Amino acid sequence: MRDKVTIIGAGNVGATTAHWLMARNICDVVLVDVVEGIPQGKALDLYEATPITGASIKVVGDQDYSATAGSSVVVVTAGFARKPGMSRDDLLTMNNDVVAQVVKKAAEASPDAVFVVVTNPADVMTYVTWKATGLPAERVMGMAGVLDSARFRVFLAAELGVSPKDVVAFVMGGHGDQMVPLTRYSSVGGIPIETLVPKDRLDAIVKRTRTGGGEIVNLLKSGSAYFAPGASVAEMVEAVLGDQKRVIPVIAHLDGQYGEKDIYVGVPALIGRGGVEKIFEIQFTSEEAEAFRNSVKGVREPLSVLGF
Ligand code: APR
Repeated sequence: MRDKVTIIGAGNVGATTAHWLMARNICDVVLVDVVEGIPQGKALDLYEATPITGASIKVVGDQDYSATAGSSVVVVTAGFARKPGMSRDDLLTMNNDVVAQVVKKAAEASPDAVFVVVTNPADVMTYVTWKATGLPAERVMGMAGVLDSARFRVFLAAELGVSPKDVVAFVMGGHGDQMVPLTRYSSVGGIPIETLVPKDRLDAIVKRTRTGGGEIVNLLKSGSAYFAPGASVAEMVEAVLGDQKRVIPVIAHLDGQYGEKDIYVGVPALIGRGGVEKIFEIQFTSEEAEAFRNSVKGVREPLSVLGF
């Protein structure tokens, strides 16, 4: 039997994730949204593309969670984007309410699913999902590092005029301006990046990576990124469904690793059918350790606003 993947929130990120998943031909997809007609319409549109792309899967849309029953993975993109006049805390409270409510319903329908949380602030919403569902921590993860690392890789590839495929680079910490891009662990075809790119250029690329989300928002003027976020989620979903044992950065629950407890933050992890099957603890320099600690602090603050 084919796996079923539910995507809650059929907006830009949700629908684009469905698109990338449909193109990979790896699972049936259920889109859910509160707005009547949107998940149905986008799902039908995607389904109608399957004869052309050669996919043998079904895509359906619904308001009701009964359609999601028995999903192997649930992707959470429901929520609001920040609007002018809205504070970060306003957004936090609104998205907390949405996420807590939708994940409870989704977990009731699919108690064995792995949850992948995208709604921002992603580190905080992943924690909210874990608390609201009561699922084992390893079956709840958030998407940030795959996207942030992809941006980092693209900027490095463009700098060097090489294929992004050959750039290995990863980003840790919170999904925000305090993320920690790790140049020391980055390479091109196995060659350390620090020997290929001068320090001032590398610093500029790190800075651009940190503000990569904002760069897209400034260009689009209405809304935020969705093509690369959707592709990042599809990569994580495929790692779970295929039990691929991929080593990728995800927002994972720390229980003592890196000296932190009771927090969800971006770390390199092994992803398979069980969700986050292992967390890798890498050696930090004192500068990197401080950047990571600051990042964690930046996640704890909004969590305390929400009463956690
Ligand atoms: N249940 C289901 N869907 C909901 C609910 C709810 N309770 N509340 C809102 N939604 C839906 C909206 O109707 C909308 O279709 O969530 C969708 C969000 O889509 P967009 O507004 O297009 O936002 P998008 O760009 O997809 O971003 C979604 O991902 O990357 C993050 O920061 C981004 O938090 C944001 C999320």
